[in-house]
Amino acid sequence: MPQPRHIKLGFILHGVGRTWNDWRHPDRDVNASTSLAHYQKQAATAERGKFDFLFVADSLSITEKSSPHYLNRFEPITILSALAATTSRIGLVATLTVSYSEPFNVARQFASLDHLSGGRAGWNIVTSWLGDTAANFSKTEHPPHAVRYRIAGEYLDVVQGLWDSWEEGAHVGDKKSGRFVDPQRLHRLDHKGEFFQVRGPLNIKRTPQGQPVIFQAGASDDGRNFAAKRAEVIFTHADDAEAGRAYYADVKARARGFGRDADQLFILPGISPIVGETDEDAEARYREVAALESIETGLGFLSRTFNDHDFRQYDLDAPFPDVEHIGLNSQQSGTLRILKQVREENLTLRQVAERLATPRGAFVGSPETVADRLQAWFESGAADGFVIFEPLPGQLDLFVDKVIPILQARGLFRTDYDGTTFREHLGLPRPDNRYSRTSEKSAA
Ligand SMILES: Cc1cc2nc3c(=O)[nH]c(=O)nc-3n(C[C@H](O)[C@H](O)[C@H](O)COP(=O)(O)O)c2cc1C
Repeated sequence: MPQPRHIKLGFILHGVGRTWNDWRHPDRDVNASTSLAHYQKQAATAERGKFDFLFVADSLSITEKSSPHYLNRFEPITILSALAATTSRIGLVATLTVSYSEPFNVARQFASLDHLSGGRAGWNIVTSWLGDTAANFSKTEHPPHAVRYRIAGEYLDVVQGLWDSWEEGAHVGDKKSGRFVDPQRLHRLDHKGEFFQVRGPLNIKRTPQGQPVIFQAGASDDGRNFAAKRAEVIFTHADDAEAGRAYYADVKARARGFGRDADQLFILPGISPIVGETDEDAEARYREVAALESIETGLGFLSRTFNDHDFRQYDLDAPFPDVEHIGLNSQQSGTLRILKQVREENLTLRQVAERLATPRGAFVGSPETVADRLQAWFESGAADGFVIFEPLPGQLDLFVDKVIPILQARGLFRTDYDGTTFREHLGLPRPDNRYSRTSEKSAA
């Protein structure tokens, strides 16, 4: 019997918060971004709520003007490895860039996380948008946007090839005969490509999931094609349900165009729900969050999208500055989204910054209101699920205790985990090792 289609839920571990001023809330721990205890508590709550996964974002270049969570944060694989030991079911998804790392190391890190966690690892592949990152990696230039995606494609070929180095059962461990491994079931990759030359094999056996789950979070044209072709989960941004539906329809059509089953590609917008006892109570809590922010936060988000460009130099009430050329090689999708709004609504810099500083989003309300909106997005083809940010301390608990039971009562969310691996939570098959058939044949 086919399983009912359920909403997929991830929770983003974001320490002191997403914005420039979240950390100033009276209930926020200013050391949250590097506090194991803080993350352990959030992980336990998300697992109690039967979330599919925890998500850790990342970046590799800061300036003193970066947001507080950027200024002090754990390396993603490290914190998720620690959380693997204190959780048992929830998926663990780490962001790791292909522009500033080596596929051999990364294949090994994710294989290790998959083993440590009993099959719960996921990799969010990003290409890094901040040009200054090059300066931290002995490079003089940041690769151009299109090249970064070409790198990403080849990089993923190499990593997935390395994950297949060892067939199932290749580590025989037969003490009697003295055979530790079966060399017939060990494969060198011998990859020679445009960007990488990697011989292999990987020095760790096939992992519980066979291949950790692949996430992607780019939304430009190149980013969408890469995701539609290779990703299993897409973490995306949607301003409203309509934008969500347009993105969803576009990427699922691209996936079908690449010959894929679009139901095996999950599209999850990031959202910041604010749950209150009533709709009015939730509005008051939203105002509490909004009151912490200033125009500086909006200017900060703009800088981040446009390659750390300084927007403080412009007149706030003049037309939006001409910065398209700066953004296109950086976070292209974010740049184009902002510039489209500027054009369509003739916005000044101040108006854009204000919107970015205190986005209200669609998910502010009583538990029923929030559950209704989640259901509406899910059922109208705007999302297969959501990645939840916690805009206010205590919101994760409220979501788990008040919203999830409503979704469960409506048959929209699991009441318990059916399986143990992250792939099983998502209903994704465990990929075959590319070599198994060959060696089965040769063994026959
Ligand atoms: C919702 C969302 C989350 C993202 N999270 C990260 C992240 O944690 N680290 C990172 O380097 N890039 C992140 N990105 C950036 C993308 O991975 C990508 O590198 C960037 O947006 C440029 O590609 P694009 O122009 O195709 O969007 C994120 C993008 C989106 C839309």
